[in-house]
Amino acid sequence: MRQPIVGGNWKMNTNRASGTELASAVASSSASARAQVVVFPPFPYLLTIADTLKGSRVMLGAQDVSDRADGAFTGEVSCAMLKDCGVSWALTGHSERRHVIGETDALVNAKTKAALAAGLSVILCIGEKLDQREAGKTDLVNETQLRAGLAGVEPASLSNVVIAYEPVWAIGTGKTASPADAQAAHAHIRKVLRSMYGVDHAEAMRIQYGGSVTASNARELFSQPDIDGGLIGGASLKPADFAQIVAAASP
Ligand code: 13P
Repeated sequence: MRQPIVGGNWKMNTNRASGTELASAVASSSASARAQVVVFPPFPYLLTIADTLKGSRVMLGAQDVSDRADGAFTGEVSCAMLKDCGVSWALTGHSERRHVIGETDALVNAKTKAALAAGLSVILCIGEKLDQREAGKTDLVNETQLRAGLAGVEPASLSNVVIAYEPVWAIGTGKTASPADAQAAHAHIRKVLRSMYGVDHAEAMRIQYGGSVTASNARELFSQPDIDGGLIGGASLKPADFAQIVAAASP
């Protein structure tokens, strides 16, 4: 049985006061959930929110990491610095970093390996754009991003890796993938994992869905056999909605 995992990716939202308030609401509403819960606040609030989450079962994540250890990399934040701030999870390959900032598969892979080497757990995000879906390339894009993102990641590290399938056209648009379409993509991702790492690892790995998950569609999405929770953007900023989504992942 895979433990579901729900992430709240706050993106570039909140401030010190509202972020602290949100984290504290998530800590109380998640207290007895079966799902693992991770929040990803903006960098400047990590230390403050680490304090807020102390003693709760909600874990702290970073929205991005540097692939470099330390040195002259202006503006970058290393995995060691993040760990030092109480972070235990990192996102890599988020579609906004791939398609807005311009990160390549090679950089996503380097960040994934740096985070794992530093002892962080990683949510590796993959997913197709609308034109790719319309051209029938969903599975191909997911497979390419998955193989590239995990290149050189040893089987022993896989228990610290979660895959997030986030179709780009569904992110922040209110257009959610249908449960059947999402399940089909997840099943293919698991099939690729099977061919990369064997059946036992593939069955044990968690694959989250992300893209316009709401309090009202979460339960049906999460009840699909290959969907192990969700990575939530907009709805993670609304404490009551996020609490319902966590509950939907904790049957
Ligand atoms: P939305 O839930 O706002 O569509 O964002 C999803 C996402 O990008 C989570 O990482």
